[in-house]
Amino acid sequence: MCGITGCIGDQEAAPVLMRGLKRMEYRGYDSAGIALLNQNGIEIRKAKGKLDVLEAHIQGNMPQGSVGIGHTRWATHGEPSDVNAHPHTDMKGEIAVVHNGIIENYLKLKHWLISEGCEFVTETDTEVAAHLLNYYDGGDMLQTIYKVMSVLQGSFALGIISSRNPDSLYCVRKDSPLILAKTSGASFFASDISALLEHSREVYLLEDMDVACLTKGDIVIRDGFGKVVRREAMRVDWSLEAAEKGGFEHFMLKEIHEEPKALRDTLNSHLSQDGAAISQDEMPVGAEEARRLQKITILACGTACYAGMIGRMLFEKLARVPAEVDIASEFRYRDPIVSPGDLFIIVSQSGETLDSIAAMREAKRLGGRVIAITNVVGSSIAREADAVLYTWAGPEIAVASTKAYISQIMVLTLMALDLAQKRALITEEEAGEALEELKRIPQQIQSVLDQKEVIQRFAHKTFDYNSIFFMGRGLDYALAMEASLKLKEISYIHSEAYAAGELKHGTIALIEPGTQVVMMATQDALLEKTLNNIKEVKVRGAQVLAVVGEGVGGVAEEVEEVWYIPRTNPLFAPMVGIIPMQLYAYYVALEKGCDIDQPRNLAKSVTVE
Ligand code: F6R
Repeated sequence: MCGITGCIGDQEAAPVLMRGLKRMEYRGYDSAGIALLNQNGIEIRKAKGKLDVLEAHIQGNMPQGSVGIGHTRWATHGEPSDVNAHPHTDMKGEIAVVHNGIIENYLKLKHWLISEGCEFVTETDTEVAAHLLNYYDGGDMLQTIYKVMSVLQGSFALGIISSRNPDSLYCVRKDSPLILAKTSGASFFASDISALLEHSREVYLLEDMDVACLTKGDIVIRDGFGKVVRREAMRVDWSLEAAEKGGFEHFMLKEIHEEPKALRDTLNSHLSQDGAAISQDEMPVGAEEARRLQKITILACGTACYAGMIGRMLFEKLARVPAEVDIASEFRYRDPIVSPGDLFIIVSQSGETLDSIAAMREAKRLGGRVIAITNVVGSSIAREADAVLYTWAGPEIAVASTKAYISQIMVLTLMALDLAQKRALITEEEAGEALEELKRIPQQIQSVLDQKEVIQRFAHKTFDYNSIFFMGRGLDYALAMEASLKLKEISYIHSEAYAAGELKHGTIALIEPGTQVVMMATQDALLEKTLNNIKEVKVRGAQVLAVVGEGVGGVAEEVEEVWYIPRTNPLFAPMVGIIPMQLYAYYVALEKGCDIDQPRNLAKSVTVE
């Protein structure tokens, strides 16, 4: 989604803005721009395409000035084009804005502004903000901003410069993240911590309806009522290098290789000091609540939702609590039935997915208790939930989620084990044994990574398929969903995921000679049935790749290709079983020459509905 940044200081702002935008590239975007304030007023450079297009555009013609704003745009209102790229200005070109989010009532405001004599040059919702700032400007920029905020509906983080206030830079937040940092001679804002790390490790998170005024080295934050407030500084532990490629060709490949560490860090952070038990400081459900628990609802989007599907099965199998998974974007529109105290788990890597935030708020409004599982400390979901369990996967830059996904499964597994123990379904000793198995998983993942050449060779042979079917039963079905999503989002190959037993209720009509089927078969108890499903597609001419546990016999002779994964408790197998599928998606996309880290049309953090 869009990334916004701004700076005011002693140095030239344009290079700082360009570096900040570069750090936010991973969010996904289709155009970019910057606006600088100088003695000539506001100078804007913007262009459709990636940042190198903008870079080429400003080469030798870099706008001067020490105050500026920048933007990477992920088009929502109006096609990606030079003119629709941000920043946008009022008619006099004296106020420029960058915006992340959606102004929901922009059409109504636009019609009204046109009737007041405003001329619009873009199709964006953002342009109304620039015209409104000019329309209401009575000389006091802060008052003007409050007035404009009171008429805007929707979600927005805005960065604002004005040639009438050349010594200040402004930003506001409503339902869209905004972070500030300062040094002795400069102040900065951005929608993403990564854009600020080169300036400071200490950042300030704006709250909803906050308005910040930045000057050289100073920041004043006011809340929605205009009162000056202090926002706690947050220390960011991860380094700039953690958000760089570290010798890998793509962030995605680097992040896949970081999975053993991500799992180890996530697991250890939730264990007691001696590592023998789940830390009770961390677990948000007490013994009494665990015993009374009637239902768990998991809310999430995309990959996080597929991690939730695995969580659902673990809650039911281990803790015997009825559980369901709801797509967050659907939840609030289906008039959900919630009883006071019902437990909800929101899973979100970024903690900023608008649909997940909205579902969380709806669950809370209806009286539910919300636990967040997120990777981003201080994110909106982390701050608004009743309790948080963090995944410690480190920054995930590639749009396609990998290490965050398995870390989410790890946290859900720990929660399920904890509930099982509190509900007296497993003993302390059994829980301890399960933890020992979990501790072995990072090493098992490493051994899959060590055999990546086999997967790369297979990808080389199969990358030009038009369509691939993924199948599995039980936990393998949830795994198939994620494997299919990974492949389609980065390689653009059409793929479907099916519960293997459901195939014959319609979809098997699509199986014909040469169709590629990937059968996830990590669940030994279901193996016999899965083998039958393999036979059903084989007799119709499908080519089958199967992923099975080491030592499982009877599969290799039935299929064209088999990949063995190290054996673990079948309930924990998804964390290992997904690794070959992530690598397969990666290598197929590589063969096809796709933009792996920033697939077309996708954004890392989906902050619009
Ligand atoms: C796919 C992917 C997305 C996200 C989804 C939710 O690889 O990353 O499907 O999982 O957009 O994002 P978060 O977890 O940030 O809420």
